[in-house]
Amino acid sequence: MSAHRIAVIPGDGIGTEVVPEALKVARAAGADLEAVTYDLGGRRYLATGEVLPDAVLEELRGFDAILLGAIGTPEVPPGLLERGLLLRLRFALDLYVNLRPFRAAASVGAGVPLDVAVVRENTEGTYAGEGGFLRKGTAQEVATQGSVNTRFGVERCVRYAFGLARTRRQHLTLVHKTNVLTFAGDLWQRTFEAVAAEHPDVTTAYQHVDAACIHFVESPQRYDVIVTDNLFGDILTDLAGAVAGGIGRAASANLNPDRTGPSMFEPVHGSAPDIAGTGTADPTAAVVSAAMMLDFLGEADAAARITKAVADLAPERGRSTAATGDAIAERL
Ligand code: IPM
Ligand code: MN
Repeated sequence: MSAHRIAVIPGDGIGTEVVPEALKVARAAGADLEAVTYDLGGRRYLATGEVLPDAVLEELRGFDAILLGAIGTPEVPPGLLERGLLLRLRFALDLYVNLRPFRAAASVGAGVPLDVAVVRENTEGTYAGEGGFLRKGTAQEVATQGSVNTRFGVERCVRYAFGLARTRRQHLTLVHKTNVLTFAGDLWQRTFEAVAAEHPDVTTAYQHVDAACIHFVESPQRYDVIVTDNLFGDILTDLAGAVAGGIGRAASANLNPDRTGPSMFEPVHGSAPDIAGTGTADPTAAVVSAAMMLDFLGEADAAARITKAVADLAPERGRSTAATGDAIAERL
């Protein structure tokens, strides 16, 4: 295995506790990682006022991948770090696919096995920051928040999803809200159908996002790959995490599939200030995120062994962060 240069951003709260476990397991799987740690997040902001200096962003572009723990502390106004760091990295590095896989032997809702990959568009939609205020602060105030959907942006995301479905069970579901979001929904649907015509081996379905929430709880086995927009994907993947056994196990990859720069891997969960410092955070999501990183870096074998070790490890209440990391590493 050749060495991979990775930037590590442990961040805040439990991020600093789960990331070392993820690195430990990745190395135990044989990965040769040259890791450079970056102090970014709430702590850095409170100490220096800096969120993501331009020079640091430029440095990050030079790595093979970025592994991120979690960002956010209660002392920092909500949204500041999310937009200034996390979303800025997603946009600046053109990480246009947010891939979130969910696996469970028995889903919390229906008790059936579940193996679903959600492909969430990661650089557009309502996250683009389009909108503003009219007559702010008056009784006649109006706030608008637009959704940006470009043919280019939607098509490259949908294309990735079809490609992924080809490597799995060849089924792709588009989730949107075309009955109400008539402009954005129309563009998504037309794009989806056009790309589908190039993939006759992949069967397709469409569902409104509200109905998809019900089906995800009641019959998640109907899904293989789901493709959806940024905000629907955000919400649906929290639901999926809960259904698949808890957000403590949900991993994600912010991918630049064109590989014009590094991709970024992070657990779906946040910094959990309520349990930070207790050594009880479940590192599973960070470990699986690191496995996704290895897979993307061409270490498919190490990645598969980590994923299997995680699946084989029976959940145990009260096991410490480090003990869970050790238990996964021992099963490799
Ligand atoms: C996620 C998070 C972020 C998002 C927040 C922290 C901005 O919820 O990665 O799902 O909304 O994308
Ligand atoms: Mn989210």
